[in-house]
Formats: sequence, structure tokens, C-alpha cells
Amino acid sequence: MPHTPVLYVLNGPNLNLLGTREPDVYGRDTLADVEALCRTAAEGAEVVFRQSSEEGRLIDWLHEAGEKADAVVFNPAAYSHTSIALHDAIKALAIPVVECHLSNVAAREAFRHHSYVSPVAAGVVSGVGPFSYDLAVRAALRLARARAARS
Ligand code: DQA
Repeated sequence: MPHTPVLYVLNGPNLNLLGTREPDVYGRDTLADVEALCRTAAEGAEVVFRQSSEEGRLIDWLHEAGEKADAVVFNPAAYSHTSIALHDAIKALAIPVVECHLSNVAAREAFRHHSYVSPVAAGVVSGVGPFSYDLAVRAALRLARARAARS
């Protein structure tokens, strides 16, 4: 990868409320805190950090990432458990997409145990709070570098 790697960090519905939303589940850090953590973890890679509660907008951003980014970290939030459209959008990408959750979705309600995103993600990080993003950013950039080395 001769150029500075570009990483999209995309966040789904309700994640704009981090810090005040169910702090016992999601903690007290805000989305701005998570963004700062991602920029530190990215160690000089260019980070495009966005949040939307609209499924179609997230799909458009995934398409955009396919054109402009080397990897994606994606917390699809509740759409993880419902969205075949997000599954299809990720399947269409050649770049690695790492799914990321603050909470341990496997330890929560049964409806959170299935993710439409996991089967098409390069990997999943879940359950360690904001540190999930730190790990996901590092993993996504490592996967992007490995992919570039292969081509
Ligand atoms: C979440 C887990 C999802 O089940 C939930 O709908 C969210 C956040 C997480 O980061 O733990 O909104 O993706």
C-alpha cells in the first residue's frame, strides 16, 4: 500500500446517543470519544468517521468506501440483526470490513445473537466497550496491508 491507508469507521442507528444511552450497557464514552480513540489506534492512517441512523445512507457509505477506502470498521448497531441489504452491500466489497460492537451481543437478548453482517465480515470484535473499536481499527488496517501485499 504505497499511499496512506484510508479507513472508514461507520456507525449505525442510535450510536450518536453514546454517553447517555443505556450507560450500564454501552458505557459513558461519547461517540466523539470513540472517534478520538479510533484516530489514535489508526496511527497515521486517514480515518473517515461517520454515524447515521438511516440504513440507506450506511449502504451508500459502504459503496463509497469500496471506491475510496482500504478497509472499513463497521458497527451496524441494530441493523446487524435485521439487514439483508447491509449484508449484500458488504458482500459486494473487495476490501475488508471488520464488524464491531461495544457490547457482547452473544451474551444479550436472543434477537441480538444473529448478525446478517458477521458472515460477510472479515472479522468481528464484540464486548469490550470502546476498546472493541481500538482492536477493530488495528485489525482492519492489518488486513488491508496484507491484502495490498498480496496484489
Ligand atoms: C451494538 C449492539 C446492538 O445489538 C445494538 O442494537 C446497538 C449497539 C453494540 O455496539 O454493542 O445499537 O451494536
